[in-house]
Amino acid sequence: MDKIYVSGGTPLAGTVRISGSKNSSLAIMAGALLGEGPSILRNVPNIGDIHTMVEMLQAIGIGVEWSSDGVLKIDATELRAREAPYELVKRMRASFSVLGPMLARVGAARVAMPGGCAIGARPVDYHVKGLMALGARIHIEHGFVEAEADGLSGNCIYLDFPSAGATTHLMTAAALAEGVTTIENAAAEPEVIDLADFLTKMGARVEGAGSKKITIEGVQQLRGVEHTIIPDRIEAGTYALAAVATGGEVVLDDVIPEHLKPLIAKLREAGAGIAPYGTSPDARCRMKVWCTARPRAVDVLAMPHPGFPTDLQQPIVAVLSLGEGTSVITDHVFENRFKYIAELQRMGADIRVESRSAIVKGVERLSGAEVSASDLRAGAALVIAGLAAKGQTAISGLEYLDRGYDSLVEKLSDLGAEIERYDVERTPLRLCAVS
Ligand code: UD1
Repeated sequence: MDKIYVSGGTPLAGTVRISGSKNSSLAIMAGALLGEGPSILRNVPNIGDIHTMVEMLQAIGIGVEWSSDGVLKIDATELRAREAPYELVKRMRASFSVLGPMLARVGAARVAMPGGCAIGARPVDYHVKGLMALGARIHIEHGFVEAEADGLSGNCIYLDFPSAGATTHLMTAAALAEGVTTIENAAAEPEVIDLADFLTKMGARVEGAGSKKITIEGVQQLRGVEHTIIPDRIEAGTYALAAVATGGEVVLDDVIPEHLKPLIAKLREAGAGIAPYGTSPDARCRMKVWCTARPRAVDVLAMPHPGFPTDLQQPIVAVLSLGEGTSVITDHVFENRFKYIAELQRMGADIRVESRSAIVKGVERLSGAEVSASDLRAGAALVIAGLAAKGQTAISGLEYLDRGYDSLVEKLSDLGAEIERYDVERTPLRLCAVS
């Protein structure tokens, strides 16, 4: 039963290394199932969700090993198993995305349906309809999606909403289908482009990734390849927001500013300084973020990319709860991503939720309290609030934070934050330390 304890009020200062993208790694790990011969993935973050995906791949008989820090070797040559267990899909819904590649490789797959989720209904109907359009016969029985196909065939797929997960999942299934598949109203997230780059190296024919229409011409076989994962724009955004909330100055080491455009625009509007520098030929660079005054109120609409990312909706609300004036933050992606607001209110935030919007009246100061994370980005919002608050904040629900942030406490400590993690059962005295 671990908790993070933060004593707020120290402006963050220094350089933080940004890890590889969680969402890109997950999509690409599923994509690696398509390859005959080993794939080597570099810059893979050391986080809970990646460990779950490793377990999932091992559960379906794939050889997976960490060959050194951040380097994952996946050899799917011998893919034989057809069933992905509920225990793992329940833990992380992204593991559902092994269905398409298994189906494409061995013609049959049985994958548990993901269950409920703290941030909304999150169904998998687009995934299932898309696979059926590619010729899969699908039954949902006893909590499992059972799919069969005598070879998938290319088709036109239209997504009602540009779902990131459905887009990447269907791209992997279509890569080995016979003929041409088009995905219309596709997600345009950077992670979709990273997957397309990986599949292309494997020998797939993918065009249009990053636009609303992706075209995939199926091939008969794909090979294992080497690939370096893009930096995690959400992790980068979290540290940028923490710098602004604490009135600090932080250098983000390894970002792609193009991926952070909506956040950069909002931070500048709020009065923060942003300066990318040292760009390498692959567009990666360092980016300095600072803020010398209370942030100004800004309105934010969370939308599919290139809109403001829903994964930074919760962290930016934490910052704007300290803003000068009233901000309105609306989430058009998930219908129920505001559960964490009750925890921010416990820290003194003045926030009201109306339908899909949070109306945030900035206060001058938050005060430390005992709070609990209800999902990954809710946890990030509470850490940011704790870093800026007066007094000590104790955050529980760390199993969520561990899913998506590599070395969070260490990285924040290196930036000067007074932050520690304790097993409260072993060090019970810390329980009375919250003021
Ligand atoms: C991915 C990201 C997550 C991010 C989200 C939106 C991963 C592992 N996770 O999640 O960090 O917050 O994109 O950018 O990459 N929907 C349906 N039916 C479907 C699929 C989706 O109705 O079959 C709806 C969802 O309920 C949601 C919206 O579409 O309202 C977008 O969800 P989606 O983009 O699919 O999110 P994920 O891929 O699950």
